[in-house]
Amino acid sequence: MKRLDQVLAADGVPAELELVINDVIVACKDIAFKLRQGELAGILGATEDENVQGETQKMLDVISNDLLKDILIDNPYVKAIGSEEEDYTVASTTPGKYLVTFDPLDGSSNIDVNLSVGTIFSILEAPEDDRAADDQSIFLQNGRKQVAAGYVLYGPSALLVMSTGNGVNIFTLDTTVGEFILTKSGVQIPEDTAEFAINMSNQRFWEPEMKQYIDDCLQGEEGPLGKRYNMRWVASMVAEVHRILMRGGIFMYPYDNRDPSKAGKLRLMYEGNPMSMLVEQAGGASSTGRMDIMDVAPQGIHDRVPVVLGSKNEVAKVVAYHAK
Ligand code: AHG
Ligand code: MN
Ligand code: MN
Ligand code: MN
Repeated sequence: MKRLDQVLAADGVPAELELVINDVIVACKDIAFKLRQGELAGILGATEDENVQGETQKMLDVISNDLLKDILIDNPYVKAIGSEEEDYTVASTTPGKYLVTFDPLDGSSNIDVNLSVGTIFSILEAPEDDRAADDQSIFLQNGRKQVAAGYVLYGPSALLVMSTGNGVNIFTLDTTVGEFILTKSGVQIPEDTAEFAINMSNQRFWEPEMKQYIDDCLQGEEGPLGKRYNMRWVASMVAEVHRILMRGGIFMYPYDNRDPSKAGKLRLMYEGNPMSMLVEQAGGASSTGRMDIMDVAPQGIHDRVPVVLGSKNEVAKVVAYHAK
């Protein structure tokens, strides 16, 4: 039974990075505990505030964000943090080597109905130049530069799924001792799948290429894809990606013509990049439909990105539809 620190040491993760990862995990354990207490902890329901994404914040969006922010800004190895729930980069008082971005609570529409939610995180090295911690441009690096990425899924068990560039490991929270214990390593996503996840109610906003792919899926064995497809939609990206890591599948939150950026709902630095690193590290693929997500050059910390990720051969099919 290996603990997280033993796995990180075996992977040769630098001590400073391990201390940053540890702080993320401490906050996530606290979030897991609060979620377990639920209504008893007075954490459910919405606030009257809106975040920078234009979403009404749930109480737990704010609580989770504060837990992560408070611990990370005091970490001497963290230069700055970026969060889905913050409109600016919060700088620590130290010169720190790492930048941490996070989605403190993913799938927050699921909280009040007691379904799975998660926390997603991504760690980059701060550029070695004289830009200050409050200069958001230090974050504008593509996803290939991530030194660690992961999520904690708060489901029937609390699971930590992470990569430091050496495959994907899964840890289960042992609530009797409050430690994440390695329960699976070398996760591999099956290359083929007949299970897709997309919010079908947005179909009229998609590009013709995506409409065509889904139309063809729905035709089953008789259609050009020649397979009978199944569909899932949890409305929590962490839960969808976890299902894909466990049994394959394809998840899409595509281009959408409602938003001025047309990029759909998901955020590149809090959702797209960390999930892409995990999926690629597990042998899957991750694309906007036209290019690998981790090659997208961010223009701003809150950029959105169309997402198509999961089983390699199925993602390749969607990319081929976009190339037609
Ligand atoms: P968040 O709760 O962090 O804002 O993210 C929600 C995201 C993602 O988890 C999920 O895939 C998607 O939004 C659900 O979107 P719909 O509301 O369209 O179902
Ligand atoms: Mn949100
Ligand atoms: Mn999210
Ligand atoms: Mn969120």
